Amino acid sequence: MKAILTLCQYKRFINFSYCNPTKLYFGDESLKYLNEELPKYGNNVVLIYGKNSIKKNGIYDEVMKILKANNKKVAEISGVMPNPTVDKLYEGVEIARKNHADLLLAVGGGSVCNYVKAVAVSINCDEEPWQKYYINFEEPTCDIIPVGCILTMAGTGSEMNAGAVITNPHTHQKIGHVFQDEKVMPRFSILNPKYTLTLPHYQMVAGIYDIFNHICEQYFSNDDDNTSDYISEGLMKSVINSSRIANKDSQNYEARSNIMWSATWALNTLISRAKSTDWMVHMLGQAVGAFTDATHGMTLSAVSLPYYRYIMPYGLNKFKRFAINVWDVDAKDKTDEEIALEGLKAIEDWMNELNLVMHLKDLNVTEDMIEGIVNATIIMQGGYKVLNHEEIVNILK
Ligand code: NZQ
Ligand code: ZN
Repeated sequence: MKAILTLCQYKRFINFSYCNPTKLYFGDESLKYLNEELPKYGNNVVLIYGKNSIKKNGIYDEVMKILKANNKKVAEISGVMPNPTVDKLYEGVEIARKNHADLLLAVGGGSVCNYVKAVAVSINCDEEPWQKYYINFEEPTCDIIPVGCILTMAGTGSEMNAGAVITNPHTHQKIGHVFQDEKVMPRFSILNPKYTLTLPHYQMVAGIYDIFNHICEQYFSNDDDNTSDYISEGLMKSVINSSRIANKDSQNYEARSNIMWSATWALNTLISRAKSTDWMVHMLGQAVGAFTDATHGMTLSAVSLPYYRYIMPYGLNKFKRFAINVWDVDAKDKTDEEIALEGLKAIEDWMNELNLVMHLKDLNVTEDMIEGIVNATIIMQGGYKVLNHEEIVNILK
């Protein structure tokens, strides 16, 4: 009897592994370490970047100088758009193949750092990548080309994870594949907070909300005592504090470096250990993104509060804990529900302070799009409430 009881108790515990092979170089002088990384790879580097930000702020010239000094042959994939498309993926794969890429070097925000991973798993793939990786969710069976990232926008955590989100505008699908194979993760990432100083305010706060929501997506699941939740609360407090400083003084290096570092730890899989994780806000946001091509962080801010208000009763303990531990809500003489609601009011006030998009209509979502967005929403199972079709309609409306 005792043996059976012991076995049952053990069944409650989640087993996990943790490995993150990405080497990080952080700080205002971190670019110089590119000189240490480049000799590890062959001669052919494919440099991948977005539209024109890195040419305007001088990062392109700095990187090129180092590539030339290391005698690299450089080809380029430019014009990677926010929310990279499947057509852009195929264009990049062709360029990388033609130039026999030994290293794919991404310079940009999450979109470029996502895109580079999708290219890395597609170059040697003899199947159709969209079907294989984004519809069938299969893992790569071919050689994966090494990836390095030089990050210019804090938010997605893409610099230290294996996520690659691609949009298919033909089918209105925006799908993220978090690859299991560690070889998809950047071999190294260079994080210079100074590079983020040229971001427009809209992108800065969208990135900040993306970070915060990544933490929420992992925090708002399960009800046990888990170290991951304590780390999450610390990260959330740091993001709130630094966001308030950066919102007033966008050139504040200390705040911007804390934001950059928090972004990495918010989504490099550490705080998801032993958590079922929710990710429902991201599924709603991604479906909105597939129809509007809106800025990722703003799609999340627009759907978050209606979602959290709706699921709050199903995860009341955690919402109460969130209010007290993250927002310092005074619990004295209040019911659990009152405390939890005060926490949600605090996050709403903070979001308004940052000037985040709070309504879907501000992202040009119209009533006639709702049905399509609902149908494009992948329903997750790990949060406090598994939503049905009608509940999603109500949340979006
Ligand atoms: O294209 P350029 O000219 O570079 O301009 C970009 C872009 O217009 C600009 N920008 C970037 N760094 C700048 C700058 N402008 C001035 N100065 C700088 N230093 O900012 C705009 C947005 O960039 P983008 O890379 O799209 O933003 P973000 O980092 O938010 O990435 C969003 C993408 O990542 C995906 C999202 O779905 C979205 O497609 N995500 C990836 C995740 C992952 N791999 O783990 C998780 C996330 O949840 C997210 O889904
Ligand atoms: Zn996100």
